[in-house]
Formats: sequence, C-alpha cells, structure tokens
Amino acid sequence: MYQKFYSTVAAEAKGSDVRRLLKYATMENFISFAGGLPSKDAFPMDSIERATQKAIDLYGYQNFQYGATEGVPALRQEIVKIMADREITVADDELLITTGSQQALDICAKAFIDKGDYIICESPTYLAAINAFKAYQPNFLDAPMDDEGIIPEAVEDYLKNYKVKFMYIIPDFQNPTGRSLSQERRKQLVAIANQYDVLIIEDSPYAELSYDGKPEKPLKAYDTEDRVIYLSTFSKIVCPGLRLGWVAAPAKLTEKIALLKQATDLHTNQFSQYVVATYLQDNDINAQIDHIRDIYRVKRDAMLRAIETYFPKEVYYSKPTGGMFIWAELPEHIETRPLSDEALEYRIGFVPGDAFYPNGGFYNGMRINFSNASIEEIETGIKRLGDLIKTKL
Ligand SMILES: Cc1ncc(COP(=O)(O)O)c(C=O)c1O
Repeated sequence: MYQKFYSTVAAEAKGSDVRRLLKYATMENFISFAGGLPSKDAFPMDSIERATQKAIDLYGYQNFQYGATEGVPALRQEIVKIMADREITVADDELLITTGSQQALDICAKAFIDKGDYIICESPTYLAAINAFKAYQPNFLDAPMDDEGIIPEAVEDYLKNYKVKFMYIIPDFQNPTGRSLSQERRKQLVAIANQYDVLIIEDSPYAELSYDGKPEKPLKAYDTEDRVIYLSTFSKIVCPGLRLGWVAAPAKLTEKIALLKQATDLHTNQFSQYVVATYLQDNDINAQIDHIRDIYRVKRDAMLRAIETYFPKEVYYSKPTGGMFIWAELPEHIETRPLSDEALEYRIGFVPGDAFYPNGGFYNGMRINFSNASIEEIETGIKRLGDLIKTKL
C-alpha cells in the first residue's frame, strides 16, 4: 500500500546481501565469511572504558551538547597526527569529522552527482558505496582491475569518451577484492585526473591493516592540484560502533561537504568524538594497529592455507597483503548467487560477487571475509565451502 508514496530511488532500493546474511550469523554452528566485521578481540575494550570515564570527567556537559559540524577540536588534532603518519598534511579548514566514512560517501554523492552524471569506479567495488551513489542516479563506468588494482588505461578510455565527475577508488586492500593499487598506478591516476579535470574520491579504511610491510602512499600524497577527497575512519583501527570517520579535502570542498552534512545530522556524535579523542591522547594508536595486524595476519594466513588445501585448483583467488577480504572467482559456469543460498544449508555465509558490480553481469565471484571468524572456523568453513564448490565442477 505504500508503493505509491515512494520516491523513484526508494522504490528501487534493495536490501543488501551483507545485511541479509547477517541474520544467519547467530545460527548455531553457522560460519560467516559474509560481513566485513572486525574481530571483537581487536577492540581496545579496557582503554575505551577508561577513556569514556575520562571524557565525562574532562569534557562534562560538552559530551552531550550540540557541537560544531566540523567536529570537536580535540579529535581533529589527533586526526591531523594520524594523517601526518600517512604523509598527508591537512590544514584546519581541510578536515571534517563524519558519522563513519559511509556518511562521507553519501554526502559526496549528494555534493557531486546529478541524475545521469558519469562516475568511474573499480570493477568490482564496495557494495555500500554503490548504494550510496545509486540514490543520486548516476551512470557507473566500472573499470576493470588486475592484481595491481584498477587499470589506468581503462580509466583513461572512459575519460576520453565521457564527461566524468569523479572516480571512486579504494586503493588499499580493496573491498571486496583485497587488492591494492600499485604505487606507479597511484601516480598515473592522479596525473590522469589532472589531465581530464575530474575529482578523485579516495576511500581508505584499510591502509593500516597491512600485514607484509608498509602500505603504499595514498593518492592524496601525490595530489598537486587539490582534486583528491580523502576518506578514512576509526572503524577498522579502533572500533566501528562509535561511528567515526573523516574527510580530508580541499578547503572549498570541505566547506560544501560540511554544509550538506548539516542537513543530514547537524554534527557527528559529540560523546563518541570525545571518547576517541581521549583514547588517542592516552594510548599509542600505532601499538593498537600492530596488535590488530598480529590478529588478522594469522587469520589471513590460515584462510589462504585453507583455500589452497580445500578449494579445487580451477578457482582463482586473490592473495591480499592486508585488509579483511579474499576474492575468489569460480569457473564461469558456477553462479555464486544460487551457490550462496545452497551454502546456507552447509552453514556457511559469503557474499556473492555480483553484488559488487553496479552494472551487474559477473556471476562467478565471491567475497570471503577473514577478520571475524576464528582460526578453527576458518579451517572448517573453507573445507565446507571447498566441498560444496567441488560438487559443481
Ligand atoms: C571501502 C569501504 N568504505 C567505507 C566503509 C564504511 O566504513 P565506516 O562507515 O564504518 O567508516 C567500509 C566499511 O566496511 C568500506 O569497506
């Protein structure tokens, strides 16, 4: 009965596969590789508890009062230090705190996309970014990737033929593939953006989750013409439930993004901001990041070993050096969407790959998360999944 009330966008909005599968996660003996959930062991619970009390003692009523759209100064100062570690210098008017980087994606969509505009993204790309962008009805130009990330020549071909607003790039340990953009290609993409006068949205929630050495420099570090909008988050390095992310962008764009954020939520939760600011003042974030890396590196290795052992040789899979995901491609005749339904009977969850293609058309991929399951679950779950795949060869 409500159909007639919906906007076109709401009428077309579909439930996400990740959310659909999350409800199975609580079933007994169910092993989920579907969500992108951090491990609960990665949360610095004791330090956050201390920081929470201290934030109340130090900042009192300000925790619970309305605040500035740009975010609280104490947290902004801490983010500037984190950005310096990533080789990015941010001036005061170039930074905005957001309610997770998901909000930044939504606001960027609102800021830049009119119906019918062209945007470039990686193929495949982050599901919830597709959904955020889709609400503003763009045309997606999805450019192919290989093991070094998006292919610049494909991006350039699009730019020669279409008037593009921005390219959306997840350069580090990408969601869903786990792949990283090579240093050479980072420079190339910035040069191409300069040549064809487009913006780059660089979404980097995973850079610190690097298990085999330092991550590459961000695209923003190569930005000479103020056209990279850099998004990041505390979701993967502290915890996601506090919903804190940030945007580092040229001052004029930051001002516009802040204006649009005001219409959404006035400002990000003050209490969360003071808690994380206090946590960062009193703790070494790099020690926390090292701790997370130690947890996930072992899980990544366990999953790669299990895939090597239990998946049939016909399956391609990425070998990520960081992040939370492995991407697998099965022989073309095996469609992973019906397979994911069948996998539920084997008590296994994964996200079918077609969810990550804004224009559809690829049916044999799967995203497998390794950060949340235990080592034992990884071993058991990948064996179950391998057995299922073998029945389809
Ligand atoms: C590529 C990417 N961007 C953005 C987000 C959103 O993160 P949050 O809103 O928790 O900061 C995620 C979360 O998984 C992600 O994988």
